[in-house]
Amino acid sequence: MQIEGKVVVVTGSASGIGLALVQRFVREGAKVVASDMNAEVGAQKAAETGVRFVQANVAQEADIVRLIDDVYAQEGQIDLFCSNAGIAIGAGPETLDKHWQLIQDVNVMSHVWAARHLVPRMLERGEGYLLNTASAAGLLTELHSAPYAVTKHAALAFAEWLAITYGDRGLKVSCLCPEGVWTPMIANAPILQQTAVTTDFLADKVMDALVAEQFLITTHPTTLTGFGQKASNYDVWISKMKHLRKKAMALLGQDREAFAAATGAAEQAMPVRDAEKA
Ligand SMILES: NC(=O)c1ccc[n+]([C@@H]2O[C@H](COP(=O)([O-])OP(=O)(O)OC[C@H]3O[C@@H](n4cnc5c(N)ncnc54)[C@H](O)[C@@H]3O)[C@@H](O)[C@H]2O)c1
Repeated sequence: MQIEGKVVVVTGSASGIGLALVQRFVREGAKVVASDMNAEVGAQKAAETGVRFVQANVAQEADIVRLIDDVYAQEGQIDLFCSNAGIAIGAGPETLDKHWQLIQDVNVMSHVWAARHLVPRMLERGEGYLLNTASAAGLLTELHSAPYAVTKHAALAFAEWLAITYGDRGLKVSCLCPEGVWTPMIANAPILQQTAVTTDFLADKVMDALVAEQFLITTHPTTLTGFGQKASNYDVWISKMKHLRKKAMALLGQDREAFAAATGAAEQAMPVRDAEKA
């Protein structure tokens, strides 16, 4: 897909990867609509970039419908919809059900709801593109947070299913699976910071993949190396991950179990932000 002149929607546009994608798409000549749950910062960043902003909480299907309808009413169509908003919360099975539900809604169901309301329109038109942000955690794992690892696996599985099912009917799908990227999301994950790439580097990768209409977008060669190791010998891969987890916990400055036993607050390794507590 050539991005110039296309109508593009990006969720999670107020920060990090979403903001970088908005800025890059604008530079490439797209007509971008930025969207975020955070109305204040989202509107400010959109104004700085010179794009229209629509507030939407992607954990609510009604908000996604409102966003899509708004763009069809104002811009006339959607060529590329980037389901990018995501959160990283929780730790192990002790993570509260309401936090499992929240991360499931933000990281997975938002992609389902966007597809539910966009795919019929895109199929009718015979074209359309969905760029869904999952994570390398969807191919490998996430050492700090089971809810993050699980939901990113699900996001990747859903993107694969869409590509297989509708690929011959004009729908293009790409799934973004970065390892560490320098954004606020990895503030509590020093192991990811060690090899983190910039959002500009990521935006280059995304642009190349969109032009090539390539399904899987990665940022680090280690992602596919690790995925190959996982496929060829799961037990060896799990051993390697156990070592890496020890390193990650040491870098975090605390052993998770010791921390949890001492404080009863295992979830703090991936803190639930105030806005997500409700
Ligand atoms: N940073 C990384 O290392 C990394 C690696 C792999 C995948 N990802 C994924 O990339 C995506 C973007 O992450 P980021 O690093 O830019 O994080 P970020 O925290 O910098 O930005 C996330 C944005 O999403 C918004 N958001 C959160 N919940 C929302 C909701 N319910 N509705 C609408 N907007 C919401 C936030 O307000 C924020 O502006 C996420 O899906 C994340 O899981 C990030």
